[in-house]
Parts: sequence; structure tokens; C-alpha cells
Amino acid sequence: MPHVPNLLERLYVLRGNRAPGTIYDLLGSWTCKTVVLAAEVGVFEALSERPGTASDLAVRLDCDPDTLGMLCTFLARAGYLDRDGETYHLSGLSERWLVGDASLVDWFTFWDRVVYPFWDDNAETVLRTGAPEQSLYAWLDDHPELWAATQRGFEAAATVVVDPILDAVDLAGDERVLDVGGGHGRYAIAACERHPGVEATVVDDPLALAVARENAADAELDDRVSVRGADLLTDDLGGGNGDAETYDVAFVFNVVHGMTPAENERLLASVADALAPGGRVVVVDQFADTSGPMATARSLVAFIGFSYRVLLGGRAYPYAEVADWLGAAGFVDTSRTDFRRAPGVSMATGRLS
Ligand SMILES: C[S@@+](CC[C@H](N)C(=O)[O-])C[C@H]1O[C@@H](n2cnc3c(N)ncnc32)[C@H](O)[C@@H]1O
Repeated sequence: MPHVPNLLERLYVLRGNRAPGTIYDLLGSWTCKTVVLAAEVGVFEALSERPGTASDLAVRLDCDPDTLGMLCTFLARAGYLDRDGETYHLSGLSERWLVGDASLVDWFTFWDRVVYPFWDDNAETVLRTGAPEQSLYAWLDDHPELWAATQRGFEAAATVVVDPILDAVDLAGDERVLDVGGGHGRYAIAACERHPGVEATVVDDPLALAVARENAADAELDDRVSVRGADLLTDDLGGGNGDAETYDVAFVFNVVHGMTPAENERLLASVADALAPGGRVVVVDQFADTSGPMATARSLVAFIGFSYRVLLGGRAYPYAEVADWLGAAGFVDTSRTDFRRAPGVSMATGRLS
């Protein structure tokens, strides 16, 4: 586990308030920085191949042994490495979440390399004015070298929740899916992998789509997963050129939080236009009125909602507001699903009559 105060510390520091409990937050931010650095030089991948001492690792990773030893000592204190004498190996936490297919390293890196620099330049202005001068996505178009890191970060977060979400999406198996703001394409690809008859189009900012193209090719699905560059707020979400293709299901995953209510009404009306009669929409996002037994989920949504304001001028909206936009766009039978396996993530669905 990351730093968890022991019973004595909880009583003395947190309950008794006899020492600054704020130190735990500093420790968390130091840990995040250290994990990103360790991942970047390859500590976790190297230790997943085989355990080693700091000196052994230093040779393998071309690092200074004494300094790498200090880094490993801290990572072990923080619960990311285990130590057996002088030999380090991955802790269960790192084994599960920092290497392999479910690795969250790209999600950490996205915060460190993309969000925080943007935040440093914009957060105070947003706090004073209520909106960023430029959204993160517009800023990324001026920093195109960061688009891939951004999409890889979104993708890492998606790998944790893709299964519970797609388990809840009722696909017969022959649908044409439009993945609106689908970015990295992971959801479209997973839908096609689950159902051999499904075809999907990922529509997103043209500069954002390189990762989706690469992922579709890696999954050998480039014949069934296509990508289309478009501005979701101004472009036709169908095929365009007045000859719109129609889709059976639209995914709108983690997009509405970045838009104003008026923009979401417009976006969902375009989604409705791109769907065939009876077509369905699936909106996934963090809803402001998230509830449930996990206090962490409510803290996450509170922070993430604020970060959407700083990064995009948006927020985490309550479900009722999302349902109103869906209704205004012509969707009926709207309903909400929360995910026990993905606390803080919710889904709103509707269908055209
Ligand atoms: C938070 S990401 C979500 C990606 C993916 N759907 C997921 O859930 O992981 C939001 C995506 O919407 C795209 N997006 C937001 N506003 C857009 C706009 N006006 N035009 C095109 N794409 C947009 C972004 O480029 C980004 O890929």
C-alpha cells in the first residue's frame, strides 16, 4: 500500500491533531513524482523481468547506483517495492498496477507531464474567472508532441473500467458503433473484440487519433475500427459531405464533463442525428451526485470535477442534468447505471424512438 499511517500515527497525528497530518498529502505527491521517474528509467519493468540489488539495477538501467539505491529505498517505504536483504522486487501493488496490460504508469505520466504543466499556467486564472483561456485540448493542438502521452494516459485509465462498462452495454453483435471523442479507441476496439459483427468509427480531434490508429492496427482490427477527425461541436458526426452514415449505438465516454451545458445539448443533438431510428446512446462519465459506500469515489469525483473546470471549463454534472440533455435531443427511456467495479464512474443511456 502507499503510505498508510499506522494506528499510533492515526491517533496522534490525525485524530489528536498533534502533528501536521498534511504531511501525508505531501508524501503522496512526492510518491507520484518518484513513481513517474522510476517508471521512466525502467525500474518497474526491469524488476518485473527479475529482482535485483540497486547496483545490479544501476548497471541494467544506466543509473548511478547510490542515487538509484535512495530511490528504491523510498519506493520500498512507499509500498511500491519489496526488499529482501539487498534485493528489490516488485510489491503486489506494482506487480498488479504498474507493469503489464493493466499498467497505470501512462496515467501517472499524463498527470505529471501534461496536466500539471497546464495547471501551473492556468489554474489561478480559472479560479478567478471560472474558465480557462484555452481548453487543454486546444492547448494540446499547440503542443502536438503531448497528444500521444495524453491519449495513452486516457487509455491506461480506460483499461481499468472497460470491462465493467462494456459488460453493461447491451450489444446484439452486429451494430455500427460511433465512438464520439473515442480518443485512443480502446472502447471501440474492445466492443469489436467482444462481437465479431460489430464495426466502429472513432471520431475525435484529428491530431488525437494517431494512438487509435496504432491500437486498431495492433489489435488487427483496422478493417473494422476506422477513425475520423472532426470537431465534435461543429462537424457532422455522421459520414459528412451531406451523405451521413448512420450508426446504431453511440458511445460518448468521458466527453460531457469537458463541455458547457449548451455545448452538451448541441453535441447530443448531433449524436442523435448520426443515429438510425431506434439508435442508442451510452454516456459514461463521473456524475456529481455519485454515491455508494466508497468515500474515495466521492473524493475522486470532487477533485476530478474541479480538474475538469481547470482543464476544460467543464465539471462533473449530476445525472439529472445529463438525462435532461438526452431528453432534449430526442432520447427516451433514459436510465442510469453505477459500477461497483468502477466506483465513481456512471453510465446514462437512452434510445431514439
Ligand atoms: C477524456 S477523453 C475521453 C477518451 C475516451 N472516450 C475515454 O473515455 O477514455 C475526451 C476525448 O474527447 C475529445 N474531444 C473533446 N472535445 C472535442 C472536440 N470539440 N472535438 C473533437 N474531439 C474532442 C478529446 O480529444 C479526447 O480524446
